[in-house]
Amino acid sequence: MESFVVEGGRRLTGTIRVDGAKNAALPILAACVLTEDDVLLRDMPQITDVSRMVDILRMLGCRVEASGHDMTISTRGMNRCEMPDGLSKQIRSSIFMLGPILSRFRRATVTYPGGCEIGMRPIDLHLSGLRALGVQVREEGGVIHCDGGGMHAGEVHLDYPSVGATENVMMAAATLPGTTIIHNAAREPEIADLAAFMNCCGARVSGAGSAAIAIEGVGCLHGAEYTPMPDRIVAGTLLCAAAITGGEVRLSNAPVADMTAVNAKLREMGCRVAETADEIRLTAPERLTAFSVLQTQPHPGFPTDMQAQMLALLTTARGTGVVVENVFENRFTHAGEMNRMGARILCSGRTAVVHGVPQLNGAQVTARDLRGGAALVLAGLRAAGETQVDNATLIDRGYERIERQLSALGAQIRRIHTGDM
Ligand code: EPZ
Repeated sequence: MESFVVEGGRRLTGTIRVDGAKNAALPILAACVLTEDDVLLRDMPQITDVSRMVDILRMLGCRVEASGHDMTISTRGMNRCEMPDGLSKQIRSSIFMLGPILSRFRRATVTYPGGCEIGMRPIDLHLSGLRALGVQVREEGGVIHCDGGGMHAGEVHLDYPSVGATENVMMAAATLPGTTIIHNAAREPEIADLAAFMNCCGARVSGAGSAAIAIEGVGCLHGAEYTPMPDRIVAGTLLCAAAITGGEVRLSNAPVADMTAVNAKLREMGCRVAETADEIRLTAPERLTAFSVLQTQPHPGFPTDMQAQMLALLTTARGTGVVVENVFENRFTHAGEMNRMGARILCSGRTAVVHGVPQLNGAQVTARDLRGGAALVLAGLRAAGETQVDNATLIDRGYERIERQLSALGAQIRRIHTGDM
């Protein structure tokens, strides 16, 4: 098992560039299945969720060649439309291979991706969306068989603006004659990025980023060269690393326009946040001030993927802050670990109340999910003494060598191997 060891108490300062977004790169990799031409993707994050997605594409017969942060994908040799069971359990986002495979082969077999640490992660909205396009869905012992022989354009109404379900339907509709409309679509920026990629390949998607998306079916899609948008959650996490240490950090290549909710909360806590088109400079006070309430919501509300990081900031802020997690049902696993460092967090259902304390103390803590793990590293940056965060590989799912990024800003953090578990 791998862990991070963090020596707290150092102010983070400096400049760092934001890499490509995990939650844009993953659906875009799936969308490569929509064309038989080569696709060149640049600035792809070197994180394990992307590696898992590449493994899935290769298992389906695609060729993927990576060179640094660039990746060439050729799906010409794709010869399977059944998702490999083991892999689809390893990564939740394999479920949005469903739409592209159906669009290409008019049939697909996937297994339930299963729940994870933050919740059950059902896929009912994905399946109801595809059924509205005429897909016959048969579920048998955890395996989902989809027959798209009678697929057609149509009107899809999502009961909840699910990011993945919106993406699946967008991709499934790409080559269906006629126009498909998605109502109550998710509005996350990564959806607009996926649409931009698809349109670069010749699709006709409009309205992405709004609650109503129209997909006009085209005959076929062609290859493209594309750079996914920068990662707003990694960017927000790096800003929080500066905020919790009373530091000053400048981010380049930042998706500024997509970070208004996060930057507003950081200002509310006493940080100075200056923005240009693609840069953010944050200057933090020695001690933050708690905001009164934070509610996570679908975009453009406060992003659930930044909730754990903000909870970490509250632990040593002046005053008391309340955080309500409206998107996932079990996303406070990091709170108990922070309390072991001396934090005072009371959780009840979807609500956490945090009484700020003057000081956290280093401890051995365990990451239970990707963003909670990153938040424990942030807490360690502030804590007195040494903090060991176990399960580093969970954090590697969404952060490219986080220890290198934070060390570049002056943090004292290293990766260790803590025996085989
Ligand atoms: C995407 O997950 C992101 N993952 C998540 O990021 C992010 O937290 C989430 O969107 C919300 O923004 C990727 O893009 C790969 P949802 P997704 O479908 O698509 C319920 C991270 O840390 N729901 O919008 O799975 C679901 O249970 C990850 O980078 C249904 O009930 O999110 C959840 O409560 C974590 N039925 C809510 O909707 C469904 O069919 C939001 O889920 C689908 C979802």
